[in-house]
Amino acid sequence: MSPTTTVDVVGTPLDRVDGRLKVMGAATYPIDVILPGLVYAVLVPSTVPSGRIRHITVDAAERAPGVLAVITHVNAPPLAHGPVTEIGPQPLPPFQSDAVLHYGQHVAMVVAETREQANAAAALVEVTYHPDTPVLSFDDPRASRISHAWTPDYKRGDVPSALAAADVQVSHTYTTAANTNNPIGLFATVAAWDGDTLTVHDTTQYPHAVRDSLAAAFGIHPAGVRVLVPFVGGAFGAGLRVWPHTTLAALAARVTRRPVKLVLTRAQMFTSVGHRPNTVQQLSLGASRDGQLTAIEHVSTSSIGMADELINLITYGTVHAYACPSVSTRATQIRQSIPIPGWMRAPGEAEGSFAMESAIDELSCALGMDPIELRVKNHAHVHPASSLPWSSNALLECYRQGAKRFGWSTRIAEPRSMRSGGQLVGYGVARGALGAYQPPCKAIASIHRDGTAFVRSGATDIGPGPYTVMTMLAADCLGMPVEHVRFGLGDSTMPKAPQEGGSGLTGALGNAVHATCVSLVRAFVNLVHDDEGSPLKGCRLEGITVRNGGIQITDDPAGFETYADILTRHGLDELTIEGESAPPGETSSATMIVQSGRFIPFTPPSTGARAHAGGYAAHFVEVHVDPDLGTVRVARVVSAIDGGRILNPKTARSQIIGGIAMGIGMALLEETVLDRTGRLATTSLAEYVVAANADVRDVDVLFVGEPDSMTPLGTKGVGELAITGMAAAIANAVYHATGTRVRSLPISIEKVLGQESGSSLEAVPATTASA
Ligand code: MOS
Repeated sequence: MSPTTTVDVVGTPLDRVDGRLKVMGAATYPIDVILPGLVYAVLVPSTVPSGRIRHITVDAAERAPGVLAVITHVNAPPLAHGPVTEIGPQPLPPFQSDAVLHYGQHVAMVVAETREQANAAAALVEVTYHPDTPVLSFDDPRASRISHAWTPDYKRGDVPSALAAADVQVSHTYTTAANTNNPIGLFATVAAWDGDTLTVHDTTQYPHAVRDSLAAAFGIHPAGVRVLVPFVGGAFGAGLRVWPHTTLAALAARVTRRPVKLVLTRAQMFTSVGHRPNTVQQLSLGASRDGQLTAIEHVSTSSIGMADELINLITYGTVHAYACPSVSTRATQIRQSIPIPGWMRAPGEAEGSFAMESAIDELSCALGMDPIELRVKNHAHVHPASSLPWSSNALLECYRQGAKRFGWSTRIAEPRSMRSGGQLVGYGVARGALGAYQPPCKAIASIHRDGTAFVRSGATDIGPGPYTVMTMLAADCLGMPVEHVRFGLGDSTMPKAPQEGGSGLTGALGNAVHATCVSLVRAFVNLVHDDEGSPLKGCRLEGITVRNGGIQITDDPAGFETYADILTRHGLDELTIEGESAPPGETSSATMIVQSGRFIPFTPPSTGARAHAGGYAAHFVEVHVDPDLGTVRVARVVSAIDGGRILNPKTARSQIIGGIAMGIGMALLEETVLDRTGRLATTSLAEYVVAANADVRDVDVLFVGEPDSMTPLGTKGVGELAITGMAAAIANAVYHATGTRVRSLPISIEKVLGQESGSSLEAVPATTASA
């Protein structure tokens, strides 16, 4: 290897840098935090879904052994509502009135020396209610309907006329069940006050939002709150909002003047940290006889909490899904007496794509056209609303390569025509897509005299692998081996990072880390600019290669010096630079692409010249359906993914497998059920069934596509991409296997057998395949 050749670690399947800690049990999650003098808070949930608290009797609980405090709305101080973040408003603060808005709402909190004592005393708290009739149906005349400013109605062309004039029209109602995020790790908060400063270990995807929300609640400066979460565990969106229990843990610590740990129970996880709301969606398509889409109408209604604001993205992906001249969408939320919905992997886009991609399959049947051919024919070669070319779009390659890998050409179009042993075999396909998203992000990077680097940002890692991928990026940008680079996150005293959500963190944080590391190298270049003692004197960023923990003059094998030597000669212990990402399509002074240690100026397409594209997927699914029992097995999945530049194919692949697993759960298993009285019927993983290893069989992931042109890093979000379209691909495969079109998730045995009764979960009778 020539002295100026380096090999990038980015793009290689590096093992997780935190993997060893995790498997050794040495990674510290919020639930693991133990502090001297720690006491325990336990929450008492409402047993009614709607009404007012009449009376809370706390005497027996207060007298119980070990009890330090019993806190209710009667004795709680006023707690201010936290600020709105870029992902919307927070839920209302707890214990501020006697109103009960949902089953499981926290109505009292017991703090005791041990968790057992707190549990025992919590059972002694007696709450009586003035119950109201809960609002549990979209048809309830008392239900208020809201159209959110974040999801305005959308219109292009004249949809009613285009639908009426269409040669072929497909119009159906699709429903999706409420789903609940079920990370195995229970959400926990450990809070400790020192005078007027608060330290909180919290299961969150957004430490800075927790900081700001707690500061608002307790009327202190945000700098007085430190939020720590070096390891989150899973969250899937449940950690995006600042939930009441986090505030209550801090309140318990303030009242008792002791550090407090609060851990939600599994049942409380279903009522306290959000869920994917149920939806009813009307999807109408119009097309010409040869399969050209002429109209798309997508009208969704979904649940929202009684006094909550949550951004609704159900119709978001429909606007630019296909090249179609006439499109209209409307998304309405209906207030229900239900545990507050929140975000769950690809919120809205997972549900919306089920309706859209099922309808496209139905249209292909009505036209007698191959479903891939139909999608290819209507591919949006440019952004359908703005007509701008995409910043990147490899969806056609996803269809082509995915179909080839899957063996789509062996599919016999007629439903019920393929069998294996006694099983009906079905092949299904669907398009997946996730909108582009890259919020602002900052980072800070240091190189120390011992030759190591420490790069950090107040982000989180819920599993996708920022620890690993940011270490790799920094190593390449600085020309250091990964073993000499440490990446830190999960601390609100670090520079502000956005939430790990919207699949935007790799782009946001990656571009910030990249820009910050480039600035750090530039700072070293500046340091040696007039340095007579350095072989690098007068070098420029464009003329160097970073490698072996230092800087090499690219054309001069003798011109090399390590960062450590530069620091030593200048009497410095370290050099530290703070930086931030440039927004997509823009540049800052540090906007360069680092490739094999070289710094190459980066120029994005000029603003307004390109539409910023998100990720794309083509999912291919083989299901096996037992014709007698109606059981559905996903035997095989091939997903071809356009995720832009893939920084680590191993961690990226894991994210896709995770999204597919959750898509299988959404399609076949997961359903959060409230009974007729508004109480939660699914309170454990025995009643709420998620996909387990046995449900996720042969999964093949192909990465297709090129770096996106909008940012130096060229990444696109993949964390949520794989669940979009996945449920539709399975439903389409079930139709192909059985001839039964199930338009209601989950696809239960009853629906497959066409024996479901009841209105909301009605199975649609089998229809014939093609015209
Ligand atoms: Mo995801 S629902 O943006 O954590």
